[in-house]
Amino acid sequence: MSVPADAMPLLKVGNLSAGYGELPVLHGVDLEIYPAEMVALVGSNGAGKTTLLRALSGMLSCSGSIVMDGRELVGVTPDQIFGLGLVQVPEGRQLFDRMTVQDNLLMGSYRRHDKTAIARDLDQMYAIFPRMAERRRQLAGSMSGGEQQMCAIARALMAAPVLMMIDEMSLGLAPVVTQELMEVLAAIQRDGVTVLLVEQDVQLALSGADRAYVMETGRIVHSGPAKTLINDPAVQQAYLGI
Ligand SMILES: Nc1ncnc2c1ncn2[C@@H]1O[C@H](COP(=O)(O)OP(=O)(O)OP(=O)(O)O)[C@@H](O)[C@H]1O
Ligand SMILES: [Mg+2]
Repeated sequence: MSVPADAMPLLKVGNLSAGYGELPVLHGVDLEIYPAEMVALVGSNGAGKTTLLRALSGMLSCSGSIVMDGRELVGVTPDQIFGLGLVQVPEGRQLFDRMTVQDNLLMGSYRRHDKTAIARDLDQMYAIFPRMAERRRQLAGSMSGGEQQMCAIARALMAAPVLMMIDEMSLGLAPVVTQELMEVLAAIQRDGVTVLLVEQDVQLALSGADRAYVMETGRIVHSGPAKTLINDPAVQQAYLGI
């Protein structure tokens, strides 16, 4: 999908800087995400991708601005940001290992009160991920890496996200599982959920996304339509081994 010329961004990040204690990591990041887009954020180890997601989720204090749906999020608590629909699937999945799949999924909806809609969404998760339906009583920590990633994505979807951010979705997964998850993301996007995909697998991210940002040492160094970046010699040389 391409962005119409008069579209308003769902999320607009302006001059965002953040770090850990004395260590600055993000240096004036600008980024925009439009409704129902899939945007990829790629870059090498330590570039600051996870740090940016933490800042967007309100887990890291930062300067600059993060506006979602016209509302400033800098200074807003992580819980409120989650409640506004900015939901993260964290690096390493971070499931509740000793809880069942179903209880993990229900944790995703803890801020919602619409019981009927929650039950409907749970059914929908089991339709999207039949493997989760089979394993609904299994402890999340005992599942395979791919199954855990499905569970983490489904848990995030149970929050009814407006913008879902996924950190290193493909890490440690077989290509066939990753491909399956990319198809799920495309379906989610067709349902109107906006997706920010953070990936070290640049080829994968650029092949699935509409637009992409490339980050190096806490700065955005390239951005544009994913198809353009895939063919950009600088990106190819640095990230695609071409
Ligand atoms: N909790 C922390 N305390 C101090 N420094 C940190 C912390 N987390 C990350 N950093 C530093 O911030 C920088 C950016 O790390 P970040 O995890 O955001 O990178 P990344 O792009 O997500 O990398 P990767 O692709 O390996 O996940 C790194 O130099 C890292 O060492
Ligand atoms: Mg990371």
